[in-house]
Amino acid sequence: MNQRPIIALDFSTWQEVEQFMQLFPEEEKLFVKIGMELFYQEGPIIVRWLKDAGHEVFLDLKLHDIPNTVEKAMRGLAKLGVDITCVHAAGGIKMMQAALRGLEEGTPAGKKRPLLLAITQLTSTSEADMHHDQLIQVPLEESVIHYAKCAEAAGLDGVVSSALEVSGIKAATRQDFICLSPGIRPEGSVAGDQTRIVTPAQARGIGSTFIVVGRPITQAKDPYQAYQTIKEEWSRSI
Ligand code: C5P
Repeated sequence: MNQRPIIALDFSTWQEVEQFMQLFPEEEKLFVKIGMELFYQEGPIIVRWLKDAGHEVFLDLKLHDIPNTVEKAMRGLAKLGVDITCVHAAGGIKMMQAALRGLEEGTPAGKKRPLLLAITQLTSTSEADMHHDQLIQVPLEESVIHYAKCAEAAGLDGVVSSALEVSGIKAATRQDFICLSPGIRPEGSVAGDQTRIVTPAQARGIGSTFIVVGRPITQAKDPYQAYQTIKEEWSRSI
């Protein structure tokens, strides 16, 4: 279990990120998630800026393309020194193996390879959507577990899924397979578009390795206070 919740920096501009980061004391080192909204607009330089300030970075670009393209893209991303990155398990075992190879090739000598996780089913996908749009006719959890097994077979470090699927994933793969859980909502907060949600304490009890929290922190009246409360709930020992 990682002691710090990962904050989803779901902003479009560097200026918004800077304003947000200024709400935190400089010595408070964070674990942040940069998604495509920010990366496609500000590019690799914002990753370097956050890393240079001492923060850990999950670069959430959810790659999904032919193996050769993903391998080369990952080679470049590894050079940025990010701590975690991810691909879609739906890209297949060969694509996931290529992604891992790319990260290994691109990691500078003496540096740690970024952890590589696979997206199983997005938490915004309902079972009905999956049946209709993907023509996958098994229950959603079975599909998630299947993708987790493919990710493990490809040598990945773990998966991204709803916390509600963590115990099934660990039982089907291994106990130390990383499970990163978004869809976290502290008691009494607004769910927004997330459906399969759990509290930080529930995620800890279920066995999530990392939690990702966005709006409950970024949209809070006092983001620093909201972060401290969530961090405390998440890291409290059982
Ligand atoms: O604001 P909220 O806490 O819902 O943000 C969750 C973050 O986790 C968002 O950046 C979202 O894109 C991401 N995410 C998710 N479900 C996944 C993968 C990533 O909600 N399966």
